[in-house]
Amino acid sequence: MRILVTGAAGFIGATTAELMLSRGHEVIALDNLIAGRRENVPSEATFIEGDCGDMALVSSLGSFDACVHFAGLIEPRVSMETPERFFENNVASSLRLLDALIQSGVERFVFSSSCAVYGNQSEMPIDEDRPIDPLSPYGQSKRMVEEAMGWLSRLGRMRTASLRYFNAAGGTLAHPERHVPETHLIPLALEVAARQLDHLEIYGTDYPTPDGTCVRDYIHVSDLAEAHLSAIEALAEHRELTLNLGSASGSSNRQVVETVQRITGKDLNVRYVARRSGDPAAAIASNDRARKVLNWRPEHSELETIVADAWAARSVWAGHRA
Ligand SMILES: NC(=O)c1ccc[n+]([C@@H]2O[C@H](COP(=O)([O-])OP(=O)(O)OC[C@H]3O[C@@H](n4cnc5c(N)ncnc54)[C@H](O)[C@@H]3O)[C@@H](O)[C@H]2O)c1
Repeated sequence: MRILVTGAAGFIGATTAELMLSRGHEVIALDNLIAGRRENVPSEATFIEGDCGDMALVSSLGSFDACVHFAGLIEPRVSMETPERFFENNVASSLRLLDALIQSGVERFVFSSSCAVYGNQSEMPIDEDRPIDPLSPYGQSKRMVEEAMGWLSRLGRMRTASLRYFNAAGGTLAHPERHVPETHLIPLALEVAARQLDHLEIYGTDYPTPDGTCVRDYIHVSDLAEAHLSAIEALAEHRELTLNLGSASGSSNRQVVETVQRITGKDLNVRYVARRSGDPAAAIASNDRARKVLNWRPEHSELETIVADAWAARSVWAGHRA
């Protein structure tokens, strides 16, 4: 297949592009590098530097069998400060991308949505039929694109899949997790283990969870990448899909700290501080629907494997940097 991958210079997009290439697909990688790195883009992909909302540019690329749309700003807390940037970059650009793709006759569209659309749910695990209640412009931006996609699917304009990731993590030797800025717990903990960061802050020890710290569902980026390929295939049969992508198991912040200490053999300087507003106590996916519809299951998403792979990937990258 000839596949357009937006955001292919980022963490999940680059990993998925690599997998697509290894399966014999042609990848056109589109990224404006606002947060990605040129060197992340696999060398066998055709790289186009530009904005996914540039309709003239997207139209000039010809047609595709599918588009997988990873491009976006990803930080919910930043979206509380500059919501307009998130609505422009994540919503307006996505709508222009969809328009250009429809005009080029592209029939399959897979979108990086997020568990942020669910907001704060009290019952775990969270399935796809739970009420939608985003707590940030980031989560709202994902929901707005999902809704537009739903109409496009139902009106026969294209086939669409919204994949709601929980916490993407892990990494491959080619693509460690390195966001700008980095706010995710595992890469930050590894920075502390590598003595590149002085300490790790854990927000809140009084949540109604077994050890009092927040619980999250970590899904290995390699499992996410496989699910995207399966979703493209599944759109041959389905006009519209909405699927959670998670491991269906929760890890607390304390468990992450302990696992990082065990895998790296380093003691972490951890400061347990007050809760931050807006952090749900727990977020754990039900992944039953994805398992059934995609014939997919997470293979690498045990916390031990995620941390070990993230540490190995980080070490290779740090070695290159040294
Ligand atoms: N990382 C997670 O845990 C997580 C969880 C849920 C959803 N997601 C979603 O998955 C997607 C990928 O996340 P990631 O972790 O790889 O982030 P990332 O920041 O590493 O990658 C995003 C990429 O998109 C590019 N980009 C942003 N806006 C663009 C635009 N308008 N045009 C072209 N390129 C643009 C950036 O330069 C970057 O390379 C995002 O849409 C994010 O919201 C991520």
